[in-house]
Amino acid sequence: MRIAVYPGSFDPITNGHLDIIKRASRVYDKVIVGVLSNKSKTPLFTAKERVDMIGQVTGDIPNVEVDTFDGLLVDFAKSKGATVIVKGLRTVADFEYEFQMALLNKALNPEYETMFMMTNSKYSYISSSMVKELAGFHGDLTEFVPCDIIKRIEEKYN
Ligand code: COA
Repeated sequence: MRIAVYPGSFDPITNGHLDIIKRASRVYDKVIVGVLSNKSKTPLFTAKERVDMIGQVTGDIPNVEVDTFDGLLVDFAKSKGATVIVKGLRTVADFEYEFQMALLNKALNPEYETMFMMTNSKYSYISSSMVKELAGFHGDLTEFVPCDIIKRIEEKYN
């Protein structure tokens, strides 16, 4: 069974992330979305809220699971029996950082492969920070995040 981990902070999940999850779920037998809970910058949503939101918008994809992690990504992947790390690439600006992370993870554990998916061009400019900034100004989030979670994001700013 081919198990992949798709890691990130998902604060909050965007349509760009969801696009990668859906596509990865067609390539791997199981995709585990790994929510980083110990990021140095304080997240807007708690780890539980982020997991709940991802669960809500991926509930119709049977081979997707969501869990949190707070150590090394390779240790999380190992604990889940995964051999692949999936990452999305939006622009060339993502490349250098992702290249470095992929090499570092490979050095930490050579058994893991990082597989990159090009983000759908529709979503190439979306980031969680951009969504939060827009929400802070009460902008329309319809294009950027799954509609099921718009209310939850807006509530944070009311
Ligand atoms: N669509 C939309 N947005 C995307 C995206 C996509 N396909 N891919 C990435 N993004 C956005 C994210 O929302 C995030 O936006 P933000 O900065 O506004 O919050 C940004 O791009 C960066 O995303 P990503 O590269 O996934 O970083 P992250 O901070 O969300 O997660 C981890 C990084 C969790 C993968 C990484 O820190 C990690 O593995 N940490 C564990 C510790 C470890 O093992 N470190 C390596 C060895 S020291």
